Amino acid sequence: MEKSKELYARAKEVMPGGVSSPVRAFKAVELPPIFVERGEGAYIYDVDGKKYVDFVLSWGPLILGHAHPEVVKEVKRVCERGFSYGMSTEKEVLLAEKIKKAFPFVDGIRFVNSGTEATMSALRVARAFTKRNKVIKFEGCYHGHSDSFLVKAGSGGLTFGVPSSPGVPESVTKDTVLLPYNDIEGVKEIFKKQGEEIACVIVEPIAGNMGVVLPENEFLQGLREVTQKYGALLIFDEVITGFRVEFGGVSTRKRIIPDLITLGKVIGGGFPVGAYGGRKEIMELVSPEGPVYQAGTLSGNPIAMTAGLKTLEILEKENPYSYIKENLEFFTQNLKDIFYKNGIPVSIPRSTTFFSIFFSEKPPRNLNEVQETDKKIFIRLFKKALEKGILLPPSPFEAMFLSVFHDKNVLSQILEIFENIILKE
Ligand SMILES: Cc1ncc(COP(=O)(O)O)c(C=O)c1O
Repeated sequence: MEKSKELYARAKEVMPGGVSSPVRAFKAVELPPIFVERGEGAYIYDVDGKKYVDFVLSWGPLILGHAHPEVVKEVKRVCERGFSYGMSTEKEVLLAEKIKKAFPFVDGIRFVNSGTEATMSALRVARAFTKRNKVIKFEGCYHGHSDSFLVKAGSGGLTFGVPSSPGVPESVTKDTVLLPYNDIEGVKEIFKKQGEEIACVIVEPIAGNMGVVLPENEFLQGLREVTQKYGALLIFDEVITGFRVEFGGVSTRKRIIPDLITLGKVIGGGFPVGAYGGRKEIMELVSPEGPVYQAGTLSGNPIAMTAGLKTLEILEKENPYSYIKENLEFFTQNLKDIFYKNGIPVSIPRSTTFFSIFFSEKPPRNLNEVQETDKKIFIRLFKKALEKGILLPPSPFEAMFLSVFHDKNVLSQILEIFENIILKE
């Protein structure tokens, strides 16, 4: 940790908290952060040369693992022709077509540079379309850090106990209605009272930012019905779930069609990207076709488009979802057994390629239940795992991800380590 420690000390002199994004500071796990030098497949290496099995995977994008050779080759090839033109390229069209193939209900797609921009812009379009202002979001769901959504958001906000943020005007958040995840009755109540004012409901169709919290059967369908009844739009924020649950998202898997979706992470293959899309009559409001302004110097830039397109091409061709799912089932089932053998109640909600470890008898249904889980055991596990070369997300409230390189061989080694860690407790 010597070089990491030295870099952290220097970083703190020149960057707030020494990081470019809060959770990277490892505050929630009471350790100094690692600084990473490189990644390959399922592994990353820190600047001190230590190797870790990576369950963070850049917080989700790297379903093909670090530095997938085919993606590297294509990005290198495109880099040599220039990085960005601020003009349209074929890659954008190809990526938009590929996304449309996976999400057939999407007629129009706009590329942006992050998930934050995608959700912020989707909200603007929803407000313009409905000519209403209010948005319903759910406690523990994170939709990026734009003002309207920075109310009881997950991950960083939770970790630091900052449910909202100074600098966010009340005049903005007064239009954000907060409800518990999975509480469809609560949603119906609000619509009964304020239905005419609600522009949209935004939801992570599988929550990933308070750890993984699965939607109950009637929740998403209920959201679809109630929004339709009152003329509000339904936005599925599939920034995590898009191309992680299948070649598509939760919307395609569950056959629940939202009005708008937001994407990010996997569709950039590890480069900065976001996108929002939906039905023609909604997306044609977006400038320059319509009056809703939204733009970006680097939006749709060729490098991100290339990495995303190559990633989606590989996912479509190789369809690795059932393979990763099977590995994840193998891993989580054995992990559960290890904890149970040691008398530690655990629940491990999962979906295809990502999961969470909650120290609780039952999987949490919402943020309150998440907060009742035992964080101390997670922190202990994190510290010991890190020592042994396993990088879990440095917060009990984050999802863990698998890639195509996290095979049974890699996962068996981790199980063996976990067995010993826990037995020694
Ligand atoms: C569901 C969801 N929406 C939006 C975002 C924001 O994306 P970004 O960090 O690219 O701004 C995230 C980030 O983790 C996310 O998980």
